[in-house]
Amino acid sequence: MNKETLMYDTIRPVSWQDNGVRLLDQRQLPEHEVYLHITSTQALYHAIKDMVVRGAPAIGIAAAYGAVLAAKEAASKANDGFEQRFHDKLALLASSRPTAINLFNALTAAKQVNNPLHHLLAWADQWLADDITANKRIGSHGAACFGKGVNVLTHCNAGALATGGYGTALGVIRCAYQQGKLNTIYADETRPWNQGSRLTLWELQKENIPTTLIADSVAASLMQQGKVDWVVVGADSICMNGDIANKIGTYSLAVLAKHHGVKFMVAAPVTTIDINAKTGADIIIEHRLADEILPNYYKKTTASALNPVFDVTPANLISAIVTEKGVIESPDASKMQFLIS
Ligand code: MRU
Repeated sequence: MNKETLMYDTIRPVSWQDNGVRLLDQRQLPEHEVYLHITSTQALYHAIKDMVVRGAPAIGIAAAYGAVLAAKEAASKANDGFEQRFHDKLALLASSRPTAINLFNALTAAKQVNNPLHHLLAWADQWLADDITANKRIGSHGAACFGKGVNVLTHCNAGALATGGYGTALGVIRCAYQQGKLNTIYADETRPWNQGSRLTLWELQKENIPTTLIADSVAASLMQQGKVDWVVVGADSICMNGDIANKIGTYSLAVLAKHHGVKFMVAAPVTTIDINAKTGADIIIEHRLADEILPNYYKKTTASALNPVFDVTPANLISAIVTEKGVIESPDASKMQFLIS
């Protein structure tokens, strides 16, 4: 790997260290770069639920290492009933967040590993390594779709922080930037959790990739002025007809993009495909607490708030789904079937 490639691949939010899971605490970014050491499935459940680790592939990797913890905990009791205890602990991890399909795909794969106590750690290490490899491929497939001097807009954080490293949407952006193809990178602030202003800006700035932050509501007028060529986002789930779920606000960007003739790219590894979801109607959308969006003043009052944190973008608004296997233009059921075959 040459020096330049390494320059754009410096962040590892999830790893295994000292018999536990090492997580970069994303709640504290950008002010503080703090790593937590997680040694129980119970603590990992809370870390995922509370967004210490977030982003579908990163959640999947954390869960893969969580399976290692689960096997150890299940084995530390009587010999009988290991499998039941192991599965119960995996079920706890599965209940942490409902939309990130990588979580469920990783846990399902963990159940298939033979002799889990001895082989799960190597398997989880491979799950992480495969994710990074997939992201590099996604990056180069996605960047190949761009001409020169392109302006891109991204939403949420689908970067190194949301994956094993390098990122999906930000993998495409990293690769295209390195190839000198990008003019301006716009990052949506991404209300209410501010993944864009807190995380995307942090990780791109760390690698000296110039980024322009915008409030979410600025996207429409930028498109109206012809200042966006591609919207590039990640996904929490991809259905078998090409519908996708991603951070709330993705759907509105897709509608805007269609209206203004802007291309819309979804970048995600195949571990984000939900083979059981026929259409977006099958996706479970996570709702988080009203407190996340209510200003402090209202928290002890009867004021209510609605806080769905993902939405569904239908396939007919998507120009391309980019996975490590290549680019699918205008996704539909038959192309998705071909992709997984
Ligand atoms: O609530 P979050 O921060 O976990 O949501 C993350 C996203 O919506 C990402 O875009 C998605 O998981 C893809 S990450 C490569």
